[in-house]
Amino acid sequence: YLHDSAVCVDEHGVIVKVERGGCGGSGSGSGSGSGDTTSSSRLLQSLGWSEGEVDVVACREGEFFFPGFIDTHVHASQYPNVGIFGKTTLLDWLDKYTFPLEASLSDLGKARRVYTACVRRTLRHGTTTAAYYATVDVAATNLLADLCLSLGQRALVGRVCMDSEATCPSYYRDESAAESLERTRQTIEHVRAIDPGFELVGPVLTPRFAPSCTGEAMRGLAEMQREMDLPVQTHISENRGEVALVERLFRGSRSYADVYDAHGLLTGRTVLAHAVHLSEEEAALVRDRGSKVAHCPCSNSSLTSGTARVRWLWGRGIDVGLGTDMSGGYSPSVLEAARQAALVSRHVAMNGDGEGEAETEAEAESHKLTVEEVLYLATRGGAVVLGMEDRVGGFEVGKQWDAQLVGFGRPVRDQDGDGQQEEDEDEDEEDEGNVDVFGWEDWEERMAKWLYVGDDRNTKKVWVRGRLVHARRGRW
Ligand code: GUN
Ligand code: FE
Repeated sequence: YLHDSAVCVDEHGVIVKVERGGCGGSGSGSGSGSGDTTSSSRLLQSLGWSEGEVDVVACREGEFFFPGFIDTHVHASQYPNVGIFGKTTLLDWLDKYTFPLEASLSDLGKARRVYTACVRRTLRHGTTTAAYYATVDVAATNLLADLCLSLGQRALVGRVCMDSEATCPSYYRDESAAESLERTRQTIEHVRAIDPGFELVGPVLTPRFAPSCTGEAMRGLAEMQREMDLPVQTHISENRGEVALVERLFRGSRSYADVYDAHGLLTGRTVLAHAVHLSEEEAALVRDRGSKVAHCPCSNSSLTSGTARVRWLWGRGIDVGLGTDMSGGYSPSVLEAARQAALVSRHVAMNGDGEGEAETEAEAESHKLTVEEVLYLATRGGAVVLGMEDRVGGFEVGKQWDAQLVGFGRPVRDQDGDGQQEEDEDEDEEDEGNVDVFGWEDWEERMAKWLYVGDDRNTKKVWVRGRLVHARRGRW
């Protein structure tokens, strides 16, 4: 994170210089930026540039820049169902809530309303990159890609492949493996046509999960993956009933991970959501293939799927990012996912990692994730998982300006020391925060408060590729 800092961004949205510290003060910025004019001009001077050539963004006292959040697993099509899951678990949740909603989005008017709301909502929570699942429908999936591009969110957009007659409802599936592959091609072509350089939006192959796909479709997708070097996203080992179903459907395979591997889908560009119940042997296979994991703690708790073990995955050499998994997860916020990753890691510490309870306090302790670690998962970890670490996830010069400006409102003041907070005559209503910061907290403590107490009211501005895509208005 950057506080008391100014950042210089070129016309392609690339960070060209970062000036840390010593800015202080407040004022309105130049270009599309905000904040301190003095530090902005100083930065421009040091680069030998004049105003207008580049944008300078600066933060005011008490505010900080944070890399934009990366949601490595989210179903845009399920956004209307957030919070609606009752007591279901994965397989009956899919049948009862998820497939009917997804099928209904072949109505393009409805799809537009849902996708627009989803992209806007996630942007205001600071999600600058999302790996989206849309639906089976080509036109609606293409529309999601259009909307990400126009609203300015970096995204991978996947048309959902599900062609198994045995497991998919007749009202919602591809009619054959050939149709599944053909429709996938149509979406790839569309996404590549609207953003040929993949500056913002790119395609991702999306076999829903092994139970909903035929072997033929999975093999066909793997072939496309190799031909076009595309990313792949799917689900793995989320819930015990699902693992048992995979065992029944793919007799003779060694494991769930082995099913994907046997069909050529465990690649260095594959993002596996959940991975709650992986065995040692599966973890070794996933690591050997270089596939990555999207940890979805909110979803795993809501659908009572299990407690995924991030430290265990890391210990086995697997890269991990965070997914909201809306609407298995109920929150559109990656900050919430990070907070829940911290809590779930504490449940692993209390209840063990699947191989029984921890034997020593130190072993239990080791499972806990720190504030820094879960915020890493939310940003740089996600960038690694999506193969975008050279572009996003941090503030190194040369990376894209995908960022959020975070603030807490004014410090709670008691200047005359009477134990009462001062009535501030000219108190700016817009500056009333939801997190009470007293002014004495150091930056590490402020980060912890933001993680555990913060929300989108603290996200004042959001940029993607240098473009301002959200600015908070009104009282907050
Ligand atoms: N497994 C297959 N489809 C889905 C889905 O839509 N959400 C979740 N959480 N798991 C799945
Ligand atoms: Fe999911």
